[in-house]
Amino acid sequence: MPLVPSTHLCRISDWPALATICRSTLSEVSNGMMSYALRNYLEDTIVLESGGEVVGYWMANRHHGEGVAWLEQIAVDPRAQGKGYGRFLLRDFERRMADAGFRELQLSAHEYSSAAIALYEREGWIRLAHPGEKRGYAKALPGTNRPLPPPLKHSLPRKLWRHLAYRWLVR
Ligand SMILES: CC(C)(COP(=O)(O)OP(=O)(O)OC[C@H]1O[C@@H](n2cnc3c(N)ncnc32)[C@H](O)[C@@H]1OP(=O)(O)O)[C@@H](O)C(=O)NCCC(=O)NCCS
Repeated sequence: MPLVPSTHLCRISDWPALATICRSTLSEVSNGMMSYALRNYLEDTIVLESGGEVVGYWMANRHHGEGVAWLEQIAVDPRAQGKGYGRFLLRDFERRMADAGFRELQLSAHEYSSAAIALYEREGWIRLAHPGEKRGYAKALPGTNRPLPPPLKHSLPRKLWRHLAYRWLVR
């Protein structure tokens, strides 16, 4: 029977698996950047599991602009790539952000991320016309009249706690 993937909101216990996937797929994201991202975007990080294993994740920054949600990271474990998990994750991101009331999605991709670029273009993302080594993509969402969620505010103690937890869990 084929394995059915499932998603859940990232838990701190998922951090080592996410850091490992990040390390093996996103060479431009340093360990410090990943620690920062998980501290700040934990509430908008979704983990994909299949057969009891973490196989990928996406992470969003909701505060990029009014009504715009930014895809910070999306990655699938190299051993699990080519099985449809990347498309599953991207569609999950789009659906959750549309449900939350966002009107537009954006991201930037390196020129060398050919698999990711192929995925975005096949899923209907439109390339933005701006120069540079990175490519910008956007996708409009069917508008809802739902008010956007309020910005997340993390207290200093919570940030510090997450910083220490990451250092402890990810070596
Ligand atoms: C991009 C990524 C998430 C895709 O995950 P995946 O599970 O392998 O993708 P899927 O199996 O769902 O494939 C979906 C589509 O992606 C594209 N794609 C996937 N792998 C590809 C490859 N090696 N070459 C070209 N296109 C590819 C195809 O368009 C594919 O659709 P199709 O098979 O119908 O043509 C994965 O390759 C990855 O983690 N890459 C490294 C991290 C990264 O670059 N993230 C984006 C940063 S901008």
